[in-house]
Amino acid sequence: MNNFTFCSPTKFVFGRGVTDTVGDELAKAGYHRALIVYGQGSVVRTGTLDRVKASLDAAGMTYVELGGVRPNPEIALVREGAALAERERIDIVLPVGGGSAMDCAKGIAIAAGHAGDAWDFWSKKAVIEHCLPIATVVTIPASGSEASNSCVISNDDEGLKSGCTSELIRPKIAFLDPELTFTLPPYQTAAGATDMIAHIMERFFSGEPAVGVTDNIACGLIRAAIDAARIVMDEPENYDARAELMWIGTLAHNGLAGCGLGIPGMRDGDWSCHGLEHEVSAVDPHITHGAGLAVIFPAWMRHVWKSHPERFLTFGAEVFGIEPVDPTVDDLSTIDEEITPERAVHDAVEATIDELQGFFMSMGMPSTLGELGIEEDDIDQMICGLRVNRGENFGTFRKLTLEDARTIYESAL
Ligand code: NZQ
Ligand code: ZN
Repeated sequence: MNNFTFCSPTKFVFGRGVTDTVGDELAKAGYHRALIVYGQGSVVRTGTLDRVKASLDAAGMTYVELGGVRPNPEIALVREGAALAERERIDIVLPVGGGSAMDCAKGIAIAAGHAGDAWDFWSKKAVIEHCLPIATVVTIPASGSEASNSCVISNDDEGLKSGCTSELIRPKIAFLDPELTFTLPPYQTAAGATDMIAHIMERFFSGEPAVGVTDNIACGLIRAAIDAARIVMDEPENYDARAELMWIGTLAHNGLAGCGLGIPGMRDGDWSCHGLEHEVSAVDPHITHGAGLAVIFPAWMRHVWKSHPERFLTFGAEVFGIEPVDPTVDDLSTIDEEITPERAVHDAVEATIDELQGFFMSMGMPSTLGELGIEEDDIDQMICGLRVNRGENFGTFRKLTLEDARTIYESAL
């Protein structure tokens, strides 16, 4: 087991009705003036925003609002929000929404007070040294941003979507009210489930040796996510299944699922698929991150599995109950060809990847880049973005070159 540091300092307030306790909790924690950040209207339509504002009013807090965050949030609104936070002397940034509202809010929290341009933090010209406190009301389980140390922002002028990380940007308090997720469209529910599973797989497939405790947590979380996702696709108002998904989304990305699997000093996982996907949604911000991952992850797996087949065998057995054929145990009387050990492993891994992709597709997720509107001509732009964001080589399960990346994209067209 490799050395690791695990710090999940966020206070999680979870369950029915916690949306109405936001004001109380924040006032108790000593905050007075919030900047509420939200997306393109779902929280207005569902009444969630009014509930949050009512609870702030009741607790004697004041607030200003910044709405309109788009999915795959853009740097321009971060700049606007940072100026607003400075002007209004905000002491807590309060996103109400999903990863996009949360990441825009995180961006605002780090850019407020910064003398240079906000984008400096994503172009790596500036290091995060200060951050306004963040509390968040989560409306979609997906990004795990409510507990993560990362923040992903797009820059349309530069055709980039980039991440920055710092321990300072983990939210202080996260409100997780599963009933808020009843209104999610099926596509967003499915993309969210895909994203949380991807966060666990990025860590599981780090290329480092097995860690029993972490592998069990990881595979258990994925099994639970698959079970809960299947239920909510049919029953959107099933509270317990929504609640399971919400908590899994948080645990998938607060670092728990990577303890001991990271190379010390590096990120706790491979993270190639996230790198590859971010370039997809940089080409077209209408592309949902989780849907991009549903395409990229299986394509990456088919390209790299031979570097560590044992990890795929563990994953296949624990998540889907798939094990290599064993001629001493299994009845092979109906099979003509000889099953060599290599062939048995190959078949088990292929079956595992097929099963995973089949699950994503069963929820309505795409299996090709074409379904997302990406064409062969877009690959050059994605490779350029990868060069800026990841360099010439990236990944730990297997070090990828930009040529590998091209092959993976082409295989997914
Ligand atoms: O904008 P509104 O009107 O609120 O609608 C949103 C949006 O259209 C809608 N929605 C959210 N909650 C809803 C709802 N609709 C009805 N009922 C509700 N309860 O769902 C759509 C997607 O929302 P968004 O916030 O974009 O989703 P998600 O949470 O998947 O966030 C995606 C962003 O997070 C980044 C992604 O790259 C992407 O930009 N990520 C952030 C990470 C982090 N900070 O740690 C890690 C992730 O890997 C990811 O990269
Ligand atoms: Zn993700």
